[in-house]
Amino acid sequence: MRIVNISIIGFGAVGQGVARCILSKQEFLKKDGIDLRVVGISDSRGSEINTGGIDVESALLRKKQKGSVAAGSKNPHEIIRDVKHDIVVEVTPTNINNGEPGLSNMRLAFKSGKHVITSNKGPLALHFNELKEAAEDNGLFFRYEATVGGAVPIFNLVHEALAGNTVLGIEGILNGTCNYILTRMSEERMPYDLVLKEAQELGIAETDPTYDVEGIDSAIKLIIIANSIFGLDSTYKDVDVTGITKITPEALELANRNNYVVKLVCEAREGKLTVAPRLVPKRHPLAVGGTLNVASILTDLAGRITISGRGAGSIETASSILSDILYIVRNS
Ligand SMILES: NC(=O)c1ccc[n+]([C@@H]2O[C@H](COP(=O)([O-])OP(=O)(O)OC[C@H]3O[C@@H](n4cnc5c(N)ncnc54)[C@H](OP(=O)(O)O)[C@@H]3O)[C@@H](O)[C@H]2O)c1
Repeated sequence: MRIVNISIIGFGAVGQGVARCILSKQEFLKKDGIDLRVVGISDSRGSEINTGGIDVESALLRKKQKGSVAAGSKNPHEIIRDVKHDIVVEVTPTNINNGEPGLSNMRLAFKSGKHVITSNKGPLALHFNELKEAAEDNGLFFRYEATVGGAVPIFNLVHEALAGNTVLGIEGILNGTCNYILTRMSEERMPYDLVLKEAQELGIAETDPTYDVEGIDSAIKLIIIANSIFGLDSTYKDVDVTGITKITPEALELANRNNYVVKLVCEAREGKLTVAPRLVPKRHPLAVGGTLNVASILTDLAGRITISGRGAGSIETASSILSDILYIVRNS
């Protein structure tokens, strides 16, 4: 039995999803010869450490009852640096201004000889190549499937399943909130403001929706795609971004009459990065509805491959993280 020790830095929706997945898959993993143990968990108020393996069920219960996993005062840096383990799962909030606290956590993890898996877009949008090189220089893995498309395995598909292909271009719908708003506006002929309010009430849109509806979140995901798949060194200023706030029900109605839908499409092609509302034929593979995400990858050998699925959610995002954990275990 191979013991694999991990820490979970950030214990919100995604961190707790990872913990639940580990609990529910424990027997399945043991059949595969893997004993996956969590030796450190941190949230903003404290942490729990147990080098023999934390009782994950109790940690989840404590978080639910007390609002914090804290059972000690060690900070994330002390866990990452001082506790002996293999993989840091970095799932703190995305910060697109300076990437913190995730950026320092990831830098320290590589310096301390730990592999990094993350769903945190901020550090990758700002310092992708630096982090990739830090991992390579130290002979470690840097896996970030969950940063783009939640459960949709875009990087795995391109880097593993489509290995040997040259990717000519990628188009995608990578923000579930915008897709939900556009779908509802189109299907119910409702104005933007009303649908946004509905999305906020349903918890699909944030109280401050700017990051989603202005296309910023989509642009950040496109930067990660461009840097990871096309080997670019792009940042936010390299993306031409238009959001969905100016779209009217009349424009959607006109599109509908001509058998089109309007979607917020991200595109990376020939070094150009664009996020903008676009007309998509109703039967086109990109025309997914609701909060779904989709990525359509054009390659030289395989042609066009399109995958679609849930772009967010605690367990869905944790699915990508678990897959990254197993990738590292099987390849190291
Ligand atoms: N939710 C999704 O479906 C989804 C999908 C894809 C990617 N992501 C990304 O994944 C990351 C996590 O998302 P989430 O939804 O789990 O966020 P969340 O629910 O806000 O959880 C963030 C966690 O990080 C903790 N935290 C904040 N500052 C910290 C610090 N300095 N040190 C240690 N922990 C700290 C928070 O502590 P407290 O609990 O004490 O507040 C919380 O436990 C984000 O970067 C997000 O963009 C999320």
